[in-house]
Amino acid sequence: MSTPPITNMSTAMSLNAKSITVRVWRGTETGAFHTYTVPRFESQTILDVVTYVQRELDSSLSYRFACRVGMCGSCAMLVNGQARWTCRTHVSKVLVDTDVLEIAPLSNLPVIKDLATDMTVFFDKWAKAKGQFQGTRTRHETFAQVRPDSAERRAADAGIECIGCGVCYSSCDVVSWRPDYLGPAALNRAWTLANDVRDTNQLERLRAIAGDAGCHACHSHFLCTERCPKAISPTAGIAGLKKKVGRMAAKGEL
Ligand code: SF4
Ligand code: SF4
Ligand code: FES
Repeated sequence: MSTPPITNMSTAMSLNAKSITVRVWRGTETGAFHTYTVPRFESQTILDVVTYVQRELDSSLSYRFACRVGMCGSCAMLVNGQARWTCRTHVSKVLVDTDVLEIAPLSNLPVIKDLATDMTVFFDKWAKAKGQFQGTRTRHETFAQVRPDSAERRAADAGIECIGCGVCYSSCDVVSWRPDYLGPAALNRAWTLANDVRDTNQLERLRAIAGDAGCHACHSHFLCTERCPKAISPTAGIAGLKKKVGRMAAKGEL
């Protein structure tokens, strides 16, 4: 990575004297933005900025990250009002029309402290949408063979790289209006499994996502699709679920 090691801030600081003004949310559901000054680096990410604040300016700041390379999905935050994965978002991408960074916890989720949200409800909804794979083969049998060019496999492929970051969930207005809505990530997961020919829980899954708080609650705003850092389109998957549910209901199979 081109990002400077976070343990080498003082060296990096001397490379570039410019600084950034950063407003960081401190507190829980109630709290306030605190302002910090952070040195600017080349190829600096938002996560680098948050890490600098925590390591060099205020060790009581709470936030979450793990991989720093866009794989774990744990570092998402609101950056100047928009949900983003912070380890792969460069400061230069955000500071276009402004000189100030404002970093807050993801919306639509309870705040544990500062920038760390409680993801329990988000993952509970994956379980409610029957987001667990249920096959029949054991380790003593051969692998199931699925043709990579089959229509179902391609449909599953389109959504399978989800890292569970919550960016789509935080961006979805319907989740804000009705907190029981399963949301784009859980429904995207349901869509990948609805296209997994090895899975044996298809009927239960479609029943789980067909209710009031399921796929039909989506207003096709596309914000989840616009914001997903993995270029997944939950909107397309949800549209696929709507069609599938409609077809099965018409046949009296749900
Ligand atoms: S397309 Fe549906 S799930 Fe995605 S943000 Fe809009 S309402 Fe939410
Ligand atoms: S669908 Fe995209 S934005 Fe939503 S949780 Fe998965 S990776 Fe994140
Ligand atoms: S820290 Fe893992 S995706 Fe950002």
